[in-house]
Formats: sequence, structure tokens, C-alpha cells
Amino acid sequence: MLRKKLADVGVSGLLPEPLPRKGVGFSHKRPGMIGTRRGGAPVGRRALSEAGIAVALSPGWPTFPRHRGPLGSMPAPDRPTSWGRKVAGRNDALGGCMKVVITGGAGFIGSNLARVLVAAPEIDEVVVVDDLSTGSLANLAGVAATVHVGTFLDVELMDKACDGASAIVHLGALPSVPRSVEDPLASHHANATGTLMVLEAARRAGNAHVVAASSSSVYGGNPVLPKREDLRTMPLSPYAVSKLATESYLLAYGHCYDLPVLPFRFFNVFGPLQPADHAYAAVIPRFIDAALAGRPLTVHGDGEQTRDFTNVATVCGVLADAVLRRVTNDGPVNLALGTRTSLNALIALLADVLGHPVDVTHVAPRAGDVRDSQADSAELRRLFPDAPAVELRDGLAETVAWFRSRQAS
Ligand SMILES: NC(=O)c1ccc[n+]([C@@H]2O[C@H](COP(=O)([O-])OP(=O)(O)OC[C@H]3O[C@@H](n4cnc5c(N)ncnc54)[C@H](O)[C@@H]3O)[C@@H](O)[C@H]2O)c1
Repeated sequence: MLRKKLADVGVSGLLPEPLPRKGVGFSHKRPGMIGTRRGGAPVGRRALSEAGIAVALSPGWPTFPRHRGPLGSMPAPDRPTSWGRKVAGRNDALGGCMKVVITGGAGFIGSNLARVLVAAPEIDEVVVVDDLSTGSLANLAGVAATVHVGTFLDVELMDKACDGASAIVHLGALPSVPRSVEDPLASHHANATGTLMVLEAARRAGNAHVVAASSSSVYGGNPVLPKREDLRTMPLSPYAVSKLATESYLLAYGHCYDLPVLPFRFFNVFGPLQPADHAYAAVIPRFIDAALAGRPLTVHGDGEQTRDFTNVATVCGVLADAVLRRVTNDGPVNLALGTRTSLNALIALLADVLGHPVDVTHVAPRAGDVRDSQADSAELRRLFPDAPAVELRDGLAETVAWFRSRQAS
């Protein structure tokens, strides 16, 4: 009966038959689970509720054109990139029958990764678990993934999502240093306890491969540059501590339970789909948003602090490659290419991309922020010699174009 109702609204049901390949499934048992039709178009809220499915949608669910390219401007036509095809076509070792779970898949990096993974022929099914605390379903519009709206702290939900999964890419977290300074318990709960729950789910799922996001913030007060993975960690914020817990739990599970694990330390990731419109927005979307609106760019401190800005295409290319080749490591791996750009230099580059100067306002430095950040990328290049690099200027131009396209739509 339910299946017929789902079919009537153009959705492939998953009870009790197996999930459709690269389709989207729904459970009538769990309120809040939503998705898209096979082929990408979002299923209307009314159609779903007429089919007896409880729906919890974020406000405003845009109907972007179908988008199956790995990355790039949304809304945008299909635009597979060369590195996306390379990753997708590289590894047949797993026999083309993989289910991959992305926690935090409705967030900035997760939704970009979902696009890459659904395009990989080796991957049969992409499943997202996201409680939408900072992510949005709009990020997944047009992506053929199964979406579970809920927390990875929910054992039952995780067992359902991870059933038969060969890999879990754990990106779900409460990001942001200042957010953690304001509410350290919430950061610990989502990031440290949450990782433990994901690892337990991976064990119950038969030792699924776990690839997770830690952060360069774990280096914190250690002044040595570039940051090599074996440097002493000196976290300066509750967020950094929670990320150190994330990677440490992964390594401990690898050691104690033979769980195949790969903890990455992300640096400052940027690109399309990164939001600017919240209190804890990252620096590049904040700058672009302000510059496009003609507002001054707010810089904490003198602007000479440096960051290893990493394009989301690089991050997703490496994550996809890690999943497809089931790469593991017995230590954390920096996921950045070893560049070092000051905020002042970034602003100059942005003005160049925009073709006009931008105003800047300097305010007090923020508690918990580190002064300089630059990865030593030797370990990354050892494990991922083909990690795709994107020039900062090109990445900025693409991100500006995405912000403009969003304003225009
Ligand atoms: N963006 C960066 O520059 C950067 C740098 C270092 C580390 N990281 C890490 O990378 C990961 C992805 O970051 P992002 O920039 O895409 O952030 P994001 O906020 O866009 O994505 C995080 C996602 O996790 C979801 N989430 C949070 N708590 C959850 C829970 N309990 N259950 C289910 N879902 C939950 C959010 O709704 C969101 O969709 C995070 O772990 C973050 O700490 C990001």
C-alpha cells in the first residue's frame, strides 16, 4: 500500500525490497526522512504527506536543475570535472557494489562529496545522515542520495543507515571555534561523543571503513610551521579538543578492534555551497558575501594571520579516492596542499577577481583563533599522489560565481 503511494508520487520505496541503485528510498517508520526522486527532482512536501510520510523540510526547498557533476556552481548544468572522472573511474577493486554513508552530508563539504560519490560507477548507494543543525536539504537538491534526517547519536537510525555499508565518511559535527567557545558541551557532544557513536555503528555494520574529519585546529598554539602530523598538538579551543578526540577515537578503534580508519585534518576548506549567512560563517564566504553586497570586509586582527586555504574539490577528490581504494592510516593525515596565504593577500586576490577594490574594517582578534596555519602535505601526497590541486584564484573565482548565481536565482 505504502509502496503504491510512493510510486504514485514517483518515489522508489525501500520496504521490504532492497534499495534501488542510486535511487532514493524512504522509510514510513521514521518521521523526518525525506529525499529526492530517482533522477534528482525533489519530491514535493504535499505529495509525500499524501503518501503518509512524515516530512520535516527545511524552509524553502528550491527546485534546482538536476545536478550530477562532482562540484561547481549550483544551480548549474551537469559539469563533471576531469579529476571527478578520474576518481570515479580509478578503482574497481570493490566490484562496483558499494554503499557509502556520509554523516553531515547536508553540510557544505558533505553535500559536495555526495555529488562526487553518486557520480562514481563503483558506488551503488549514497546515504546521508544529517540532523540539519547547520546543514540544509537545499544543498542536496538534485542529488540521488538516500537522506535520513536525524542525529548520528541515534543508535537505531545509524543501524538503519549503515546496514550493508562498506564505508562511512564522518563529516557531521558542530564546526567553528567561536561556537565551541560559547557552548563547549554542545561541541563535545556532537564531535567527540558523536564520533564514538559513529565508530560503534561502523563496528555493528561489520567493520565498515571510517574516514573522518578532524581539523588543523588541533595544532593550536604550536608555532612550528609547516604543520607536520607528528607535531605536538596544543588545542586552544573546545572545538579543537573535540576534533582531537575525533581522530584519537578513530585511531584507538583501529588499534583495538581492527576497524579500518583514516582520520584527516582539514585546513580552511572553501568553495560552492559554503554558507555566509550565519554567525559562525567561515572567512571566505563571509568576505565574498560582504564584497558582493558592497559592505566592508571584517578582519579580526591585523590581517597578517595566514591559512592554508583548501578547495572543496581537493577535499572531495581525496575523500572519494580514500573510500574507493579503502585507504587506511595509523595516524592523522593533513588534507591540505601546503600553501600559506594571509587574509590581507586573500582580500587582494578577491578584489582582483571582482575587478574592484573592497573596503576592510579591522576588529579585535577572536579568542581561540590560531595565528598561522600551513600543512606539511608529504603524508597526503604519499597516500594520495593524485590529490587534485586548484589554484586559490581559480577557486575564489568559482566560489564568487556560485554566490552570484545564487543571488540571481
Ligand atoms: N570547512 C572547514 O574549513 C573545515 C575545517 C576543518 C574541519 N572541518 C570539519 O569538516 C566537517 C564538515 O564541515 P563543513 O564545513 O561541511 O560543516 P557544515 O556545518 O556545513 O557540515 C556539518 C554537518 O553536520 C551536521 N550535523 C551536526 N551535528 C550532527 C548530528 N549530531 N547528527 C547528524 N548531523 C549533524 C550539520 O547539520 C551539517 O550538515 C566537520 O566535521 C568540520 O568540523 C571543516
